[in-house]
Amino acid sequence: MKDSVSIIDSAKYVGKTVKIGAWIANKRSSGKIAFLELRDGTAYFQGVVVKAEVKEEVFELAKRLEQESSVIVTGEIREDGRSKFGYEIGINGIELIGESRDYPITPKEHGIDFLMDHRHLWLRSKKQHAIMRVRNEIIRATYEFFNDRGFLKMDSPILTGTSAEGTTDLFETDYFGHSAFLAQTGQLYAEAGAFAFGKVFTFGPTFRAEKSKTRKHLTEFWMIEPEMAFVHHEESLEIQEQYVAFLIEKVLENCNYALDVLERDKELLKKYTQLPFPRITYDEAIELLKENGFEVSWGDDFGSPEETFIANSFEKPVFILNYPKAIKAFYMKPHPTRDDVVICADLIAPEGYGEIIGGSERATDLAYLEEQLQKYNLNKEDYEWYLDLRKFGSVPHSGFGLGLERAVTWLSGKEHIREAIAFPRTLNRLFP
Ligand code: 4AD
Ligand code: MG
Repeated sequence: MKDSVSIIDSAKYVGKTVKIGAWIANKRSSGKIAFLELRDGTAYFQGVVVKAEVKEEVFELAKRLEQESSVIVTGEIREDGRSKFGYEIGINGIELIGESRDYPITPKEHGIDFLMDHRHLWLRSKKQHAIMRVRNEIIRATYEFFNDRGFLKMDSPILTGTSAEGTTDLFETDYFGHSAFLAQTGQLYAEAGAFAFGKVFTFGPTFRAEKSKTRKHLTEFWMIEPEMAFVHHEESLEIQEQYVAFLIEKVLENCNYALDVLERDKELLKKYTQLPFPRITYDEAIELLKENGFEVSWGDDFGSPEETFIANSFEKPVFILNYPKAIKAFYMKPHPTRDDVVICADLIAPEGYGEIIGGSERATDLAYLEEQLQKYNLNKEDYEWYLDLRKFGSVPHSGFGLGLERAVTWLSGKEHIREAIAFPRTLNRLFP
């Protein structure tokens, strides 16, 4: 809308009369004054309509407006020391644009199923707005971080003919008479990209037909996957921790208001930007768990209680290195002196948020990879193109994947991953 301003820019217009296109998020009124909580997608603030100061029809309209009606208001921006946002608008004109009646999401408490069924409307509420701001900032900062370091953004295919992370959780679809799978990862393509462009990152939707109904799993999630030629795993770990610290710094810098709305502890987040992050081996993690009464044995994968316990033993995100080969993907580089573990690490977030990054150095030995494909029951023919990378100028290379929604959930301090994406796809949800 021409000549209108955004709520978020209020500071620039103090003392000026402006026009704003907005929705009524909430309303309180008495006989003499109406308080309209306005939202325009950029922020929320209060509009004040004083009966004695406006035309009668303006005040009557203000009193009549229901939640989520859309309006164009005109008025003067003022500082408002009592609100967190700091500004308000003294309204003198209201144009009703779109009526709203009996909006289903009222300021009272609603159950999660009801809210999820109304996700298309729930997104308008304050906390959801704040989470999406954090998500947007993580995405923006991701591009900044990798572009500044010479990475080329590369788009890997969504429809693929192969599996990379195991065959048990593939979404299969018919592709003109052949089987195709929704990508679980862009990694194998990113490896081709790294050998073409040096340093790349993919960032796209990935799919896991996981039957797990946890607060950390989506069936469709977005993953950032950097892949770097001539980089060994130790250097990759340094880039990972720098990247995570950068994301936190940028969220602190640019999402201050959103973090307040989410009541996120900013001092705590600040602590997580101090590098390096601690590193322990899988073996050490098993010992630590055993010493503390967990019934685990070497070779087990960690569940949520184990991850949380390990994370709580440190004050920052922690890398767990060198997992057993048997519980990791086929492409990871075997350890030089031990044949039971691979050169990899998971980064475990504090506060029980679990694994946010999985990464590894990649196997480069052709014969080893052929053997691995067989062990994992993967059809060699489908991977010929991938094996080609080991035949024509192969080099050491490493990479990792950060789950966007895991990072959003963590930095927003939310309980459940379903609020970290606009329209979550989970075991039991395909609508809206
Ligand atoms: O550990 P994962 O499976 O690793 C890969 O896919 C590798 N190809 C990455 C790479 O080296 N390029 O997944 C990486 C991250 C996890 O650490 C987690 O943050 C996230 O993706 N993730 C999920 N997020 C939400 N829902 C799920 N079902 C997820 N599965 C993995
Ligand atoms: Mg993993």
